[in-house]
Amino acid sequence: MGNKLEHLALIMDGNGRWAEQRGLKRTKGHEAGAEVIRDITTYCAKQPTIKSVTHYAFSTENWKRPKYEVDFLMKLLNNYLKSEIVTYQKENIRFLAIGDTSGFSKGLRDRINETEEKTKNNTNLTQILALNYGGRDEIVRSINRLIDKGIKITEESISSALDTPYSDIDLLIRTSGEKRLSNYLLWQLSYSELTFTETLWPDFTPDELETIIRDFENRKRRFGGI
Ligand code: IPE
Ligand code: IPE
Ligand code: MG
Repeated sequence: MGNKLEHLALIMDGNGRWAEQRGLKRTKGHEAGAEVIRDITTYCAKQPTIKSVTHYAFSTENWKRPKYEVDFLMKLLNNYLKSEIVTYQKENIRFLAIGDTSGFSKGLRDRINETEEKTKNNTNLTQILALNYGGRDEIVRSINRLIDKGIKITEESISSALDTPYSDIDLLIRTSGEKRLSNYLLWQLSYSELTFTETLWPDFTPDELETIIRDFENRKRRFGGI
């Protein structure tokens, strides 16, 4: 047994291209993508080492998309959380959101808060959705929280003031062949292992995840040492 995967982060990319390749509207790709989140989360919940999985669902830059697509994504998120509560309770999964959700509609904010509240004692896995999330935005908000409380800025204090305090990320996977971070978890990814796959998110499977995890376990992580 090599590296232990505790915290996995995913950039779920390629929904739009998946739909366009099929002559469908981009929104159909988002619908298909939401089903894959469920499969991957259920798989992660069954892995004894994995404690949390963080999905990039909506970035601070995604507001640049056409209004109908943004509106669709908001509605999809609301429906996803509404139906997912059954899985969260069955699989003992805690749900948390990171990002600045203050600009979301009241209905969606209530749904997010209610889902966090109902699942707060679940211990098998934490599923974190990054919603209106930007890595730079999170770091800035974290530093402002510390300034407001008069706390000295250190690596530890910034880490503890992030949207949710959690361990560094062990492995990041981005689907769809793009090789960039797109403002995701900039602080938490500083020593993560990275994997980029050509697979579009709606085609991503637990089997492919398993193959990537085996590869991760065999990597040599040095953390600056030798
Ligand atoms: C990722 O898929 C989902 C979100 C950003 C919400 P995209 O919608 O970015 O799909 P592509 O990259 O256009 O194919
Ligand atoms: C990153 O994907 C954001 C999410 C997956 C939510 P994008 O598709 O928005 O990223 P860019 O624009 O290609 O970098
Ligand atoms: Mg994309």
